[in-house]
Amino acid sequence: MTEPLLELLHGLATTRTIRRYTPEPVPEADLAAMLWHATRAPSGSNRQPVRYLVLRDEPTSTAARQLIAGAAQRMWAHKEERDGYGAGTGATPDSPKARMAATMRHYVDHFAEVPVVVVVCMERYRDPSPYEGGSVYPAVQNLLLAARALGYGGAVNMFHLMVEGQLRELLGVPDHVAMSACVTLGRPVGAHGPVRRRPARDVVFDGRWGVNADWVTEPDGARHTVWKQHG
Ligand SMILES: Cc1cc2nc3c(=O)[nH]c(=O)nc-3n(C[C@H](O)[C@H](O)[C@H](O)COP(=O)(O)O)c2cc1C
Repeated sequence: MTEPLLELLHGLATTRTIRRYTPEPVPEADLAAMLWHATRAPSGSNRQPVRYLVLRDEPTSTAARQLIAGAAQRMWAHKEERDGYGAGTGATPDSPKARMAATMRHYVDHFAEVPVVVVVCMERYRDPSPYEGGSVYPAVQNLLLAARALGYGGAVNMFHLMVEGQLRELLGVPDHVAMSACVTLGRPVGAHGPVRRRPARDVVFDGRWGVNADWVTEPDGARHTVWKQHG
């Protein structure tokens, strides 16, 4: 009989995006273990097209991290202004909006000093398809969960896309390789804990579109986001 693995479920429900890190370096053995577990992720036909471009402290890696950091800062400055993060409840220092803005500001301002950055890539073996991400993002989640399991935390971001051409040149990434995601990793400042999501019943349909599954229940301690309905 297969034994249940309840700790795994606990990890799935409580692995938050970590955007603040201590300056503690990530020992190579831990980083190797995270990457090994990422490489165990499933992919279509088990083709395993994912490649991990690890950026640590070597001069080229540092230059790449600085490029991404600059992009992140520009992106956040634009979004902060456009979405009015300083207005409304954002003007109240302890509001969720203000806390989110402070976390993002810290993340982008310290991006170049994050202990490890991994650009997760996909070696294409056919023309780009809408489904190709399906063979990459399970590995990204495995990386985050492996980090969590070893006492670290991570965040997925797409900042690298703003400087993709420069990164390709600097890091020698060929044209047929997709740069699918950027992941920052390190020891968390703060803690993991229950993630906030929509109640599962709202998003699980039973047999017919729009029929919420009333047998889907929330475990104790589940935390929820308030979300607008589409349509
Ligand atoms: C495909 C993808 C892209 C993301 N891009 C960014 C990003 O560019 N910047 C960022 O700070 N977080 C990014 N995130 C993290 C999400 O914002 C985060 O997972 C979400 O807000 C839920 O927060 P939680 O993981 O702490 O529960 C991304 C996550 C995914 C899966």
